Amino acid sequence: MKSSISFVCQECGYESAQWMGKCPECNEWNSLKEFRIKNSESRIKGEKLKPQTPIVPKTLKDVIYQEKSRLKTGFLEADGVLGGGIVPGSVVLLAGDPGIGKSTLLLQMALNISNGTRETKGSKGAKKTSGASVSPVSSGTSVLYISGEESEQQIKLRANRIGDGSKNDNLLLLSLTDTDAVVSVVEEIKPDLVIVDSIQTMESEGLGGLSGSVGQVRYATSAFIKVAKSLNIPFILVGHVTKGGMVAGPMVLSHMVDTVLFLEGEKNTGTRILRSLKNRFGPVDEVGVFTMQGEGMKEIKNPEQIFLSEQSADASGSVLTVTLEGTRAFLVEIQALAVYSKLPMPRRVASGIDYKRLELLLAVLQKHCRLPVDTMDIFVNVAGGLKLSDPAADLGICLAVYSSLKNVPLKKTIGIAEVGLLGELRSVNMIEKRIKQAKKLGFKNIITAETQRSLNNVLRTLG
Ligand code: TYD
Ligand code: MG
Repeated sequence: MKSSISFVCQECGYESAQWMGKCPECNEWNSLKEFRIKNSESRIKGEKLKPQTPIVPKTLKDVIYQEKSRLKTGFLEADGVLGGGIVPGSVVLLAGDPGIGKSTLLLQMALNISNGTRETKGSKGAKKTSGASVSPVSSGTSVLYISGEESEQQIKLRANRIGDGSKNDNLLLLSLTDTDAVVSVVEEIKPDLVIVDSIQTMESEGLGGLSGSVGQVRYATSAFIKVAKSLNIPFILVGHVTKGGMVAGPMVLSHMVDTVLFLEGEKNTGTRILRSLKNRFGPVDEVGVFTMQGEGMKEIKNPEQIFLSEQSADASGSVLTVTLEGTRAFLVEIQALAVYSKLPMPRRVASGIDYKRLELLLAVLQKHCRLPVDTMDIFVNVAGGLKLSDPAADLGICLAVYSSLKNVPLKKTIGIAEVGLLGELRSVNMIEKRIKQAKKLGFKNIITAETQRSLNNVLRTLG
């Protein structure tokens, strides 16, 4: 028997038999909290979850993998990000800021999947949580949507808003926060897909600690992973993101699951980007693009231009670049505003790009291009709410700052290059693909490391 008390770090999930002031794993102070296993029932339950049939390893040649066994979500964009659909028995974590649209997207997927095969009139969308009395679904693709955040009525309301709430027989709703109860319901009705919204609301009585604490989140995740693997039922878990941008109940969660998807975007714009950060069954860094509308999420099939804003061509401070997200090339507008500052330390505000990167590029502009950026407040923004980490955006950022500072409109100009510390332009990966995309959309003035050697040269040609 394990000791009934353990201390778990709320930052990194480190577990210790005794309390410590400082976590030896992540060096956080005072982050270890006590967890008491009140009875050992949950552990025993864990053993019950093992498959009843004797365990026999298979030879590699006997393992059959069928691509078509992946569950299609009804969104080509989401299927692409997942690597072709949801793999049976896999556990997917969908993370994102609160209010970004996770529940909406998942409910739409649930409706798509459960509507796919069979639709019966007059059935109730919601069924009660009486556990064992929920009848198994024998035909069609059944989805169990478990919400610890909303009541069944609220989900129904949302489903109605999305437009498809009334005649669904295969979508089962359950408002529940008890991890162990969720496990037994899933074992009982064996749906084809389980959605848990959100993992932070799940708690087990057997454990101490509130829902959302690392111990609870970790326990719930591992319990769901066990069921997923043993019954070959895929799970999608919703995870909220903490202020630091990490999935709460931190990285432990991402290590445990098979796939981590991230839904991002700015709340005031409708554009949402679904990104895979980890995928045991598909590509990473692949993106799908959606817009949030009154009746749910709509996928955008040709999203290459979605981040371009409609502005007059003579506005200064705006330059385009082509960024790669996964295998896709997107045209993005970078906007800058440079104004004289009265502050001894002028302001630098970066949104959509790394602040440190901006500081570095400004230093390069100052030193190598002799632009007086040290006397200016500089604001840089990526239009459309995209977060750019691609170094190819460097040139675009520099040009946008230059354009604003000198009042030179550069609207139709595209800059694709990394800028080095010496002000030199460096080539970036897949440049042909990027150029092709820009040309396809009708842009001709494309500046790259292949056409110009240094930032200074570029600025000189612009006058
Ligand atoms: P939600 O899916 O609840 O976000 P999350 O689960 O990530 O916290 O989305 C909430 C926001 O989305 C809310 O501000 C309302 C808006 N919304 C729409 O714009 N259209 C819709 O069809 C729905 C259902 C919500
Ligand atoms: Mg939600």
